[in-house]
Amino acid sequence: MQITALDASFGAEVFGLDLNKPIFDETAKKLNRALLDHIVLVIRDQDLDARSYCKGISLFGEPMLQHRLAFRLPECPEVSRIINREKMRPAANWHTDHTNHEEPPKATVLYARKLPSKGGDTSFANMYAGLENLSPASQAQIASLFTTNYMEADNPTYSADDRGAFGGGARHPMVRTHPETGKKALYFHVTKATGVDGLDPDLVRPFLDDLLKQAIRPDNTLRHQWRMGDVVICDNRCAMHSVDPNFDQSEERLLWRIILKGDQPV
Ligand SMILES: [Fe+2]
Repeated sequence: MQITALDASFGAEVFGLDLNKPIFDETAKKLNRALLDHIVLVIRDQDLDARSYCKGISLFGEPMLQHRLAFRLPECPEVSRIINREKMRPAANWHTDHTNHEEPPKATVLYARKLPSKGGDTSFANMYAGLENLSPASQAQIASLFTTNYMEADNPTYSADDRGAFGGGARHPMVRTHPETGKKALYFHVTKATGVDGLDPDLVRPFLDDLLKQAIRPDNTLRHQWRMGDVVICDNRCAMHSVDPNFDQSEERLLWRIILKGDQPV
């Protein structure tokens, strides 16, 4: 196995790893260390069915159920489809996943199953750097603020059952200390955070948009152009991600997503 830094300020590629095969403890340790160091790992050339994907990726943590019941794979419910069909829209805004949960996932894993002939890239942003990119005034302002998070009211892919089970109300600090690295990162979901302490609800979205504008720059982002066989894992505790929706929507784009159990942000 070889781990090589990508040509960006963060992220690494992993070659020579087959997630179908048993992983030795020493290899698992190396990969977990690499995820903490590089934030995003691109594991190349995988050929997995849903169960072997789930089993293989559990070297990084415990897969947890996702909140859209209709998109779970029947043969392995921890794997959920991300698709530009069935009213699902590409998640074009910068965000971290499942913040409507008290314990949002520590990592998100995506596996390319069908790709458009061009585009459909996923971008990642380093939020340790994102926090440092904020003006001193913004940093001071958000230091002790919390967001309140709900499933988006206008998202047609959430069923009434999904909303009943996972509607939300979870409160999370806007500056989060990573439980393993001890470093601070900017942490929020721009459309799930409908409340920010002390702010009028109408001002929340412009406030968060302004923070994103300050935080996200070319030098702390990484654009991933998908290849078939790619499994990409992202540390949600210190990164955001977004999809470029500017691809031919008549072509299907399907990723298999797994999220890994996390702890309550502090
Ligand atoms: Fe996402």
